[in-house]
Amino acid sequence: MSYGISDIFGMITDMSDIKKIPAHVGIIMDGNGRWAKAHGVPRVMGHNAGMQSMKKIVIATSNMGIKYLTVYAFSTENWKRSTEEVSGIFNLIVKYVNSELEELDENNVHINIFGDYSMLPKASIDAIDKMVSRLDKNDGLVFNIALNYGGRDEILRSVRELARQCAEEGRDPSGLTEDDISRYLWSGDAYFGVPDPDLIIRTSGEERISNFLTWQSAYSELMFTDTLWPDFTPDEYAAMIEAYANRDRRFGGRKETDK
Ligand code: IPE
Ligand code: IPE
Ligand code: MG
Repeated sequence: MSYGISDIFGMITDMSDIKKIPAHVGIIMDGNGRWAKAHGVPRVMGHNAGMQSMKKIVIATSNMGIKYLTVYAFSTENWKRSTEEVSGIFNLIVKYVNSELEELDENNVHINIFGDYSMLPKASIDAIDKMVSRLDKNDGLVFNIALNYGGRDEILRSVRELARQCAEEGRDPSGLTEDDISRYLWSGDAYFGVPDPDLIIRTSGEERISNFLTWQSAYSELMFTDTLWPDFTPDEYAAMIEAYANRDRRFGGRKETDK
């Protein structure tokens, strides 16, 4: 039996099978404050420049055929910053929604929020809700925004839910599995059903994870660049995606060529 080209494409369900592009990329968008300092402007202007950078990277992700993108926008620890900076960041969310919603929709982008954003200012909550519901039916890029997000916080939430099931529903704790913990993370099937990230990128020269996707990053490839987030370009991003294809992922096993 012979196959035509359309049969072969029909058998390939995911672009990543062809080009070894990552299915899910996580980005720790760091360096806005240092960018602002270097330009002699207030920190909030650094965050505004960072938002411009994010707009370009979202579209670039979609164009490269990557299915999932998760960006770290505000951590559970970022509340330690000044009220001025924190409220400046939340105001930018409203600005982002107002300026980008049409283009996100035209690009068939779907948005999920990883984190409990109910304690944000009402204007930000309303903007987020409007954006999420408007893009709900889209089935292109799945763009996850980690907002008031902490990796340890979401593990704690999952464990609390499982403890509740054991206490109230008679579940046997000794039968709990890793999959049960995964299920009640923001990425889990009880919420948004997003696979673990294949690649995590951090800008600004810091080489740490800072509580981002703590559970899900167990086997992620990590890449760091000195570029400050507002200066990060789609070209540098594309070069990293290309470099990813040459990484040898083993997941605890052995290379196929090793004998
Ligand atoms: C990342 O930039 C954005 C957020 C944490 C919200 P920073 O504000 O952390 O920038 P630096 O690290 O001070 O340069
Ligand atoms: C991580 O960056 C959080 C975000 C990018 C939103 P931070 O700048 O808050 O992390 P640390 O403090 O350098 O570890
Ligand atoms: Mg930082």
